[in-house]
Amino acid sequence: MEVVILGGSRQIGRLAADAIEELVTRKPEAVLGLATGSSPLPVYEELAARHAAGLDFSRVSGFALDEYVGLPEGHAESYRNVIRREFTDRINIDPANVHSPEGSATDIPAACAAYESAITAAGGVDLQLLGVGTDGHIGFNEPGSSFASRTRIKSLIERTRRDNARFFNSLAEVPHHVITQGLGTIMDARHVILIATGAQKAQAVRDFVEGPVAAICPASVLQFHPHATVLVDEAAASALKLADFYRHTYDNKPSWQGL
Ligand code: F6R
Repeated sequence: MEVVILGGSRQIGRLAADAIEELVTRKPEAVLGLATGSSPLPVYEELAARHAAGLDFSRVSGFALDEYVGLPEGHAESYRNVIRREFTDRINIDPANVHSPEGSATDIPAACAAYESAITAAGGVDLQLLGVGTDGHIGFNEPGSSFASRTRIKSLIERTRRDNARFFNSLAEVPHHVITQGLGTIMDARHVILIATGAQKAQAVRDFVEGPVAAICPASVLQFHPHATVLVDEAAASALKLADFYRHTYDNKPSWQGL
């Protein structure tokens, strides 16, 4: 796991966008794993600007990490709509190639299996963007999630519902259920970039980067990922024991290495 401590969200957005630009230039039909929430927004902002300057996404595909269950069709906070609004409507990706779990499916297990098949049929995820919850979740894999899990329905922990209530009119509107790629699904991505900013993420970052690998902290499974990059600002890095070592390593990294 590579930990990069940066000055702020703009720098994080630029560095993650560099990795995505390098990928889609090298592999125009790249498959991106797309997170929602606040953490990836600077990356989407930066990629939209690079698209305006000529970066081509016409052959790229995208798979959202997760979706709420039970929101009315077209709800502004459904992750399908958030991904479109914040990112895919701002670039020239083919809308037919942007996929989200089917939160309104009548047969949820079948929809989850179909989602897994669609990821496999696309050739697997090349680069997965992730945020992390204050409880250590990635996707909506809450504490206790199986490390082998695939796309399925999950219940949200109350803390996550409270964290996400800022996007809704009230806590009561935040759904209790979600469909999320599993930890096993996320671990199959060829490169994972997790972004965490702000002091409220410091404990989760410390737990998953330097704590034991344990289901109580789902993001800790990334310690087993062969290519996981963690981009954090100073506040999110503030509880890391080895922060100086991560800074030294990144500052002295060979320029040919990339992320
Ligand atoms: C969103 C997702 C979640 C968020 C996490 C952090 O698709 O899967 O794991 O990444 O809840 O959310 P923010 O970035 O809003 O703090």
